[in-house]
Amino acid sequence: MIQKRLKLAATIAVIFMASNSINAQGNKSSLKKTFNNDFLIGTAMDAAQIEEKEPNAAKLIPQQFNAVTPENIMKAEIIHPAWDKYNFDLADKLVAYGEKYAIKINAHNLIWHSQLPAFVKGIKSTDSIKIFFENHIKTVASRYDGKVYSWDVVNEALNEDGTLRNSIFLQKLGPDYVTEAFRLAQQASPHAQLYYNDYNIEEPKKRAGAISLIKKIQAAGVKIDGIGIQGHWHLGKVPFKNIEESIEEFSKLGIKVMFTELDISVLPSPFDHNTADVNAKAQNNIKMNPYPNGLPDSVQLVLTNDYISLFKIFLKHKDVISRVTFWGVNDTQSWLNDWPIPGRTDYPLIFDRKFQPKEAYYKLIELAKHKK
Ligand code: XIL
Repeated sequence: MIQKRLKLAATIAVIFMASNSINAQGNKSSLKKTFNNDFLIGTAMDAAQIEEKEPNAAKLIPQQFNAVTPENIMKAEIIHPAWDKYNFDLADKLVAYGEKYAIKINAHNLIWHSQLPAFVKGIKSTDSIKIFFENHIKTVASRYDGKVYSWDVVNEALNEDGTLRNSIFLQKLGPDYVTEAFRLAQQASPHAQLYYNDYNIEEPKKRAGAISLIKKIQAAGVKIDGIGIQGHWHLGKVPFKNIEESIEEFSKLGIKVMFTELDISVLPSPFDHNTADVNAKAQNNIKMNPYPNGLPDSVQLVLTNDYISLFKIFLKHKDVISRVTFWGVNDTQSWLNDWPIPGRTDYPLIFDRKFQPKEAYYKLIELAKHKK
């Protein structure tokens, strides 16, 4: 009797495991195929994924995405670690990866005040900053001309009130540095699409700052092809109205609109305002990490609904939206597990920790199918 029961339990376990693995392998749908006539669908790739060292991601990325952004490896601190030293190894591998799988590469990024190499932070003289600025853009952008689809030329130049952030570039080069960065990028990489990228630019004041920045670049006769709204938002607080208004206003400038770093954090924020400033930090405590062992269904449902509402807006404006990129392949990779508080468990993406599609994934596929 006991043996029979054990045998039954073992059989059930085998069936259960088999059905799980059918689910794991059996998802035949594809974001990139389903949204093919709408916009590109992208993801951010980390170093291990670029080297195809992560089997699940190696399978999932070419199946689901037709655009990728390097999460870190093309940032100045990695690609340009010392005054005369460039480290192109992983960026070259990313280019080869893109060619192999016919995936478009959005290079991220040329000019940003964060993740700068230590030597730049130590520079005191204006002339040296100018030389760094020019050499960096010329060297990096020209190497990848014709190899990457696009560049985030300037990242996060604006304050929340729409004024220019008091970065090392503003201090040393003055307010025209953004236009100059685009001018240099255009010369160095004439085949790339050139974008301005920032967070919270859907909010009215910062949006107005972005609009004047773009108008200034255009008035100088310098090329700018698009604007990236990063899209780091919080569950139940996604600013849908501001997002839709921004798509409309930005597209009136004759440029493409993109959502470049999409994720929806389900965790409480330690701040009283939305931010994606990588330098922001806060302390951990139990209240700040409510779901270490799994996401309750009720919260999952809100996540699904937020993604549905967001993609309804994206699809409505697909004529001006050229790309929607998630900031990471699955929840394990998300930077939100360690920012702004280290060691939390967040669930912001549409593939879970086992690389399984979440409910939101299937709903987005359905949504796109029904739109056609
Ligand atoms: C983040 C990466 O995801 C992290 O791995 C890294 O430690 C910090 O930067 N805005 C940007 C991205 O433009 O480059 C940032 O990426 C997230 C916020």
